[in-house]
Amino acid sequence: MQNFENFLIDHLPVSKSIHPTYEEALQKMLIAGGKRFRPALLLGVVNAYNPLLIGGAYHAAYAVELLHTYSLIHDDLPAMDNSPLRRGEPTLHVLYDEVTAILAGDALNSYSFEVLSNAPFSDYTRVALVRELATSGGLNGMVLGQAIDCYFENRPLNIEDVKVLHTNKTAKLIAASLKMGAIIVGREDLADTLYDFGVRLGVLFQIQDDILDVTQSSEEAGKLTNNDESKNSFVTLLGLDKALKEADELADTLTKEMDGFDEKLRNELSPLLTHYINRHK
Ligand code: IPE
Ligand code: IPE
Ligand code: MG
Ligand code: MG
Ligand code: MG
Repeated sequence: MQNFENFLIDHLPVSKSIHPTYEEALQKMLIAGGKRFRPALLLGVVNAYNPLLIGGAYHAAYAVELLHTYSLIHDDLPAMDNSPLRRGEPTLHVLYDEVTAILAGDALNSYSFEVLSNAPFSDYTRVALVRELATSGGLNGMVLGQAIDCYFENRPLNIEDVKVLHTNKTAKLIAASLKMGAIIVGREDLADTLYDFGVRLGVLFQIQDDILDVTQSSEEAGKLTNNDESKNSFVTLLGLDKALKEADELADTLTKEMDGFDEKLRNELSPLLTHYINRHK
């Protein structure tokens, strides 16, 4: 992933203006890092089937990371989760002010599509990638999930509805990352299978995130933990033991599904997936 990090640094959002902190705010959370899980999934699919396309795929992986980073900046705002720490750094509304954090998120959101529109692919592929990122990251995807997450604070949902919440706020973008890899390599025959696998992987990722909220310190997580009491998290609703059991079951299912991937995809993705599928253990 070092090459991806270099690409990101070379393509940071740039603004030349009289504003003293705007540009720094745009770049701060991108440079702060993070697991880069979504880029790694997209790049893994491309590496499995056509490594020659990896240079172009960095544009798409970066677009996903930009949209994800915007979602985190807004997620931390006082009106949403009100968190002072992200990726081991003070959040933008703490470091600068709320207006700057809101606008930095807005800018990264649109910049993600600017990056995709300039990716070195055919028009057909570019439009397919834009469509996928917008569909999974937008009004019937991540944004809907965040809306449900915040609206239903202190209003307990049933577990099926929480899975819908997790699917939208987190899983669809993870699923889109895998599918965008398939689009880039022209393997549209694999797109639905990878997307469906990605939804299950993303639900597990969010259940694990809910578990880590109560098992990790803020320092370990690099973000405020023990912050989900009012949320419809798996742990809040089921308790830690049942949440762990649910995660174990989903992890088993995903491991079996991964074993059914063709050899190229399995060889490329299994180290990454095995690590993340088991990260709650
Ligand atoms: C955090 O995502 C928000 C969720 C969807 C759970 P990550 O855990 O991938 O955050 P970073 O990118 O590593 O900071
Ligand atoms: C956020 O879920 C999911 C997003 C779309 C950003 P959380 O609120 O649980 O994420 P963290 O725990 O703050 O990273
Ligand atoms: Mg949240
Ligand atoms: Mg949060
Ligand atoms: Mg969380």
